[in-house]
Amino acid sequence: MSPTLKTEIADRVSSISVSSTLKVSQDAEKLRSQGVDVSDFGAGEPDFPTPDNIKQAGIRAIQQNFTKYTAAGGILELKQAICDRHTADFGTSYKPANCLVTVGGKHSIFNLTQVLINPGDEVIIPVPYWVTYKDVVNYAGGKCVFVPTNEESGFALNAATIEPYITARTKMIIINSPSNPSGAVLSPEDFEEIYKIALKHGIFLLTDECYCHFLYGSEAFSIAALPGAKDTVLVAGTVSKTYAMTGWRIGYSLVPERIAGAMLKLQSHSTSNPTSISQKAAVEALRGPQDSVAAMLKEYRQRRDFVVARLRQIPGVQCAMPDGAFYAYPNIGGALGRGGIHTPQQFAEKLLQEAHVAVVPGEAFGTHHHVRISYATSMAELERGLDRMHRFIDGLA
Ligand SMILES: Cc1ncc(COP(=O)(O)O)c(C=O)c1O
Repeated sequence: MSPTLKTEIADRVSSISVSSTLKVSQDAEKLRSQGVDVSDFGAGEPDFPTPDNIKQAGIRAIQQNFTKYTAAGGILELKQAICDRHTADFGTSYKPANCLVTVGGKHSIFNLTQVLINPGDEVIIPVPYWVTYKDVVNYAGGKCVFVPTNEESGFALNAATIEPYITARTKMIIINSPSNPSGAVLSPEDFEEIYKIALKHGIFLLTDECYCHFLYGSEAFSIAALPGAKDTVLVAGTVSKTYAMTGWRIGYSLVPERIAGAMLKLQSHSTSNPTSISQKAAVEALRGPQDSVAAMLKEYRQRRDFVVARLRQIPGVQCAMPDGAFYAYPNIGGALGRGGIHTPQQFAEKLLQEAHVAVVPGEAFGTHHHVRISYATSMAELERGLDRMHRFIDGLA
């Protein structure tokens, strides 16, 4: 008798799905490979090149043979640069022992959730949310508890909205301000209130600072700068967007030492160190001139103003004004129910196939009347793509 085959995929993988933002890129790429000229508003990455001083630091690292394993949690020089930049920008006082360098910001959030969440633990996630939170919490066996926000007031969130969702099983609240996908920004006062309820209930507050330098109406701040906050606030950061370094894959966590130690254990058996060359480039990004960040912000602001005004001209579309990041999150509810389209998913598919515009459907972020438009692309491309989208919606019977 032949043995029973045990070749199934592990159960925990069925709790996650392929990132929908990656799927949009794949579908757009497929069309492009067939010679179609696609307006791509799917990708969440700066269209600017990595600044030259940073590229040169990477080149120097190769020339100086800095091309071997490093400490699994990152080189001390980079950890110190991360702590110093955080101090300079936000007034925090982290030490390298609090810092773990990871393979991008996503990896930092993955490690954090995997070392802190036990099966059955609840994690509070405001909606709309960045796709990855849900999947990494599920992967750890945790339970996502989704908290709605108020679209009329720009997807606003506050402590009073969150607190009723806290139970004895709650382990963590995840906050992403500015938000991907809505661009909503928490005021320092509202953020502090959320911090206080997390403290009151003895739970972690994970703050994803991915877009913290891209703010249009307010000063950048970190909730970790509040006195005493470093014990319960967990910072996940990245150089990816701030310095147009998405492909270099350098992120970081700033956390209590015992948590950094737990994350290091996990990382030492999975990725080991982030790429040595990228680490040297990241040191230059954090220590070198910062003017490229302000230049990108200026450009994003112009694009945001254009995109939101243009979207608001399309009948059936409403769009809240994003205060940060580089995404618009228009409500396309007025276009649903026409042309055989009933969901943002169907809308995005038809828009790509028929009008050759790539957007990410709102289902990916937990809402059912929106699509996400990344305006990290040129003005010319935005004009062209939004004209196409306008014509597409007008043409829906
Ligand atoms: C909200 C948010 N957090 C974290 C990340 C992770 O960035 P990376 O892993 O590229 O550093 C992203 C990337 O899109 C993001 O949008």
